[in-house]
Amino acid sequence: MGSSQTKPLTPGRKWADVPFQLLETPRKKARTAGDMKTAKEETGAFAAASEMVLIHNMIIRGLNSIYVQAPNIKEPKDVQDFFTYMYSWALLVHMHHHNEEEVIFPLLEKAIGVDGYMEKNVDQHKLFGPGLTAFDDYVKAGKAGEIQFDGVKVQTIIDSFASIFIEHLKEEIPTFLALDKYENKIDWPAYNAAVLEKAVKKGDTEFEIPFAIVNQDMTFEGGIHAGTFPDIPLIPMLLFKHWFIPKHLEAWRFAPCTRHGIPQDLPFA
Ligand SMILES: [Fe+2]
Repeated sequence: MGSSQTKPLTPGRKWADVPFQLLETPRKKARTAGDMKTAKEETGAFAAASEMVLIHNMIIRGLNSIYVQAPNIKEPKDVQDFFTYMYSWALLVHMHHHNEEEVIFPLLEKAIGVDGYMEKNVDQHKLFGPGLTAFDDYVKAGKAGEIQFDGVKVQTIIDSFASIFIEHLKEEIPTFLALDKYENKIDWPAYNAAVLEKAVKKGDTEFEIPFAIVNQDMTFEGGIHAGTFPDIPLIPMLLFKHWFIPKHLEAWRFAPCTRHGIPQDLPFA
């Protein structure tokens, strides 16, 4: 886990699990129900659905950490760094949806031979589009120094799209689980390779991936996903931890986790 020491979270202090609720993985649900699925027993669809939850939870933790800290950020240096943090969140969201629309969904639809199987999910991307654009515009103007930062305004913008956005993140999971009935049609190892290729090799190494890493809680659900997620290979992971993440440490101080995935207090919560 590296040498970084972290204190346990301060009880009663807001963290990145509010106000928007994190999603439960099918993996956790199955184990709670006593249906102890080991990684070997998991179908491809089941594993992919669980992995999608973990990715969505990075996005939700990121949004929460912005939401709870925004009103308390005042100093110009903090504001500037916070804009970088917000920018990185939006970049992760855009890349995630772009990858789904361009690579992941078409790949799955082609494999199962059902055109438009994922269409509902793509339609939902459009529903929160305007809210996300308002967020992007705000961050852009902020980074350019054209506006005075207002944390309450940030919350208002998030409130304008959050419920439909979170609903979408939730509803995508059953769509993946339902792919179970096409298990023999989908080449899941090829799917995983394509996802990894798109997310890591073609991802943004400066802001997007570092943001995702510091929004991944390795202790989530009792740590049952450690070892399977995130599935960034060792060498690139070391590069992120020791080269890319240190480049913008000033922005990652707003993050809910260390670069090793250990939860930490949010400094402005
Ligand atoms: Fe997704």
